[in-house]
Amino acid sequence: MKVTVSRKAHFNAAHRLYRPDWSSEQNDAVFGKCNNPNFHGHNYDLIVSVTGEIDPVTGYVMDVKILKDFIKSEVEDAFDHKNLNLDVPEFKNLNPTAENIVVVIYNKLKAVLDQHLELEVTLYETPRNFVSYDGK
Ligand code: NI
Repeated sequence: MKVTVSRKAHFNAAHRLYRPDWSSEQNDAVFGKCNNPNFHGHNYDLIVSVTGEIDPVTGYVMDVKILKDFIKSEVEDAFDHKNLNLDVPEFKNLNPTAENIVVVIYNKLKAVLDQHLELEVTLYETPRNFVSYDGK
């Protein structure tokens, strides 16, 4: 029997979507407003879900306080009020699309969680646009 424990989180960050090897016309055609050279911001919302067996001693899949602390140290402290392109090393050579951001967040959290726990991360770039990654 497996149960999923989830926690919501939030960060604000700026980004620009572009490929330096493309012309500005090509970048505009593919990335539109997200190619604004002076960057723009999003209010990102996050749902982190951890699935595993219930520990018979504690009754927890994992202590949500510990999950909260991991999200703070790995995601909020790293991304909140940052320029993803300029301030976050993972995006130095990686376009900070919602798809790439959710994979980076997954990898950071997966590295600190107990190995037996399954992880899924859902990232909302806007209230209507969101992406998910579970490591597959
Ligand atoms: Ni954008």
